[in-house]
Amino acid sequence: MTIVKHRRQTSPCNDPGLGPAQPIASELAKAEAKLLSLLDSREELIGEICRYLVSAGGKRLRPTFVLLVYRACGGRESRLDDAIDAAIAMELIHSATLLHDDIIDTGTLRRGKPSAFALWGLAPSLVAGDYLFARAFELCGRFEEPLVKIAAEACIQLTEGEVMEGRLRRNSRVTLDDYMGVISRKTASLFRAGAKVGALLAGAHDATAATMARLGDAVGLAFQMIDDLLDVLGPEEKIGKPVGADLRAGVPSLPLVLGVEKYPALESLLLNGAQVDPAALERALELLRSADVVGRARNLALEQIAIAHQMLEVLKPSPFKDALARLINEQVYREV
Ligand code: FPP
Ligand code: MG
Repeated sequence: MTIVKHRRQTSPCNDPGLGPAQPIASELAKAEAKLLSLLDSREELIGEICRYLVSAGGKRLRPTFVLLVYRACGGRESRLDDAIDAAIAMELIHSATLLHDDIIDTGTLRRGKPSAFALWGLAPSLVAGDYLFARAFELCGRFEEPLVKIAAEACIQLTEGEVMEGRLRRNSRVTLDDYMGVISRKTASLFRAGAKVGALLAGAHDATAATMARLGDAVGLAFQMIDDLLDVLGPEEKIGKPVGADLRAGVPSLPLVLGVEKYPALESLLLNGAQVDPAALERALELLRSADVVGRARNLALEQIAIAHQMLEVLKPSPFKDALARLINEQVYREV
């Protein structure tokens, strides 16, 4: 397996000529147009909030991933519109969770801009999230029952992951297994579901669809591990959210779970979070940025990257398979 550093990050939609999205640029452009059209509501406020978040420059990683899996599994034009709808549904569900997550975390910065919660407050952000969630099920609710169940199960796991993470906040005894349980539900669930639905829509056998689900799992886990690392590495201008937010909120992120084992000084910081003075917080961040913690966190992400590459082996050679390999590699060295 070759891990290639791709430092350049572009939104696949803004720059369809580059990056792993290249072979599905036209599908992604269609998905983008339909996604934006679904944000219009009879109530102007809902449309305004949804457009504000969705157009704020997300990476469209989930739709790209679903469409690449669809094509890499041999998906043809006959169900392309369905695959596009599934891809849009993933982005809508993801966007809904971000609106709700910022309410729960009182997150004030998202994608480099004030969050919807900071601008419009709790009730409008909550309802806008509900609206996006309903739009997602308007799209995938017309699929065959097993596909709807896969999407619904992912959403159930998203809620459970969020609650599990809340339960483990400010808990210095949180283990790596606990952490894996949280991120499997709160992040990998959507990648698993997206890959499985993409494969089934392409007409893949159940065994291939299961392998694609495992691929999604590994990509989602690696993605969240790097997300957690970026929370301590920053900088804010790149990650689009405040550095050290997880530490302040007492969230059991990967660097914290690994760091607390090695540096007992972190224990009280994890317990007290936001109550800690800024200098102590900065010292904690320095410990979490140590070569040991960063190296171990990256190695755990690399383990998932290796699993993801293994799963790709069941697929026939194609430009879509190559693009998936590139998308997988990009997760480890991404900076945003
Ligand atoms: C962001 O993680 C949050 C999630 C990935 C999941 C959030 C799930 C919910 C709010 C449950 C609601 C579910 C539905 C289906 C609407 P993070 O806090 O690690 O990321 P961040 O640092 O970008 O905020
Ligand atoms: Mg959050």
